[in-house]
Amino acid sequence: MFERYYSELKELKENFCERKLISLKKAGKYIFEDNKKYLNLSSNDYLGIAEDRKILNNFLKIADFSMGSASSRLLTGSSYVYAKLECLLSALYRKDKSLIFNSGYHANTGIMSALLSKRDVVFCDKLNHASILDGIKLSDAKMFRYKHLDYENLEELLQKHRNDYETAIIVTESLFSMDGDIADLNKLVELKNKYNAVLIVDEAHAFGVYGSRGLGIAEEQNCIKDIDIIVGTFGKAIGSMGAFCCGHEVLINYLINKCRPLIFSTAIPEINIAFSYFVITEVIPNLRNQRRELLITAQKLREKLASLQLATTGSSHIVPVILGENKTAVNASKVLIDNGFYLLPVRHPTVPQNTARVRISLRADISYEEIAAIPELIVKAETV
Ligand SMILES: Cc1ncc(COP(=O)(O)O)c(C=O)c1O
Repeated sequence: MFERYYSELKELKENFCERKLISLKKAGKYIFEDNKKYLNLSSNDYLGIAEDRKILNNFLKIADFSMGSASSRLLTGSSYVYAKLECLLSALYRKDKSLIFNSGYHANTGIMSALLSKRDVVFCDKLNHASILDGIKLSDAKMFRYKHLDYENLEELLQKHRNDYETAIIVTESLFSMDGDIADLNKLVELKNKYNAVLIVDEAHAFGVYGSRGLGIAEEQNCIKDIDIIVGTFGKAIGSMGAFCCGHEVLINYLINKCRPLIFSTAIPEINIAFSYFVITEVIPNLRNQRRELLITAQKLREKLASLQLATTGSSHIVPVILGENKTAVNASKVLIDNGFYLLPVRHPTVPQNTARVRISLRADISYEEIAAIPELIVKAETV
């Protein structure tokens, strides 16, 4: 009866593409598996907040919140703790309104599927995250995928197709999760104005890390006010759980009425929302030096990779080493793990075919000296 699934799993295994869940223990920047210790370079805890017991204990001293919300936000799940965090986000971004979701996946699938219909068109960077693509697929809108960060290609598509549809949306990540490169948001603002489109920017990997107050790349590029909807997540640099978007009042009110993942799912508990609030107000403002150090480490690592002719992209704290075939990335990951670096292979469909890689996800509490051996180990793995 399940033959189809058996054979598909077998095929994935043969193509070095099988995924497995692991059972591990974390402590600070380390991972423990089967009594072995590894440096954790595969999480999105870029500032080391999720695993910082001091931060957690400080939060718990003031925490008096429920562990379950027991309903959707549209029923009784929307406590004052949500309202407080939403007000804070609207004030920080100077937007009319904000809306919290259970995760970035809920946010993107919900926003894209709610705002788009059959009559509409969306222009989507080719390397945008699966949650954005899944939301677009749910909407039945016409989608054009422009070449990654290629705004000439985007303009060609806008020129050719924009006028055939009612609403047009341009959607991009600000810092691309698997390539570590950064969108030119001002160029996108120019195009969205010229072609009368709505601009949505997903700051999942930049929120907390970039910009003078940690608001993301839009803050760094000084264009928050020109972006229609900014999405951010709390599950990465903030070390919590959930996501938000902020923007024009009518868009947020529309989402409250139409966004299915918001309407039909139990809201995450108050305690998570309160922790996100605590981190944004009490922790992030004190981490300026750590954020600067993080980028210096990334720069040094990129220079070392380049000196060994290893292919990388981008300029951020996400440093991919692109190896091509799944098997090569799986081998490199094995060698790195054997040497104490917890670096998992990234393969299709997370990245395009034949661009399998190890994605070095740097953290502010890991120094360059601790990771300096990685490039040579990758070279060694390539020759095995
Ligand atoms: C760009 C981007 N957006 C959204 C998400 C989903 O966020 P979450 O993990 O909170 O569901 C991810 C997850 O990695 C992501 O990379």
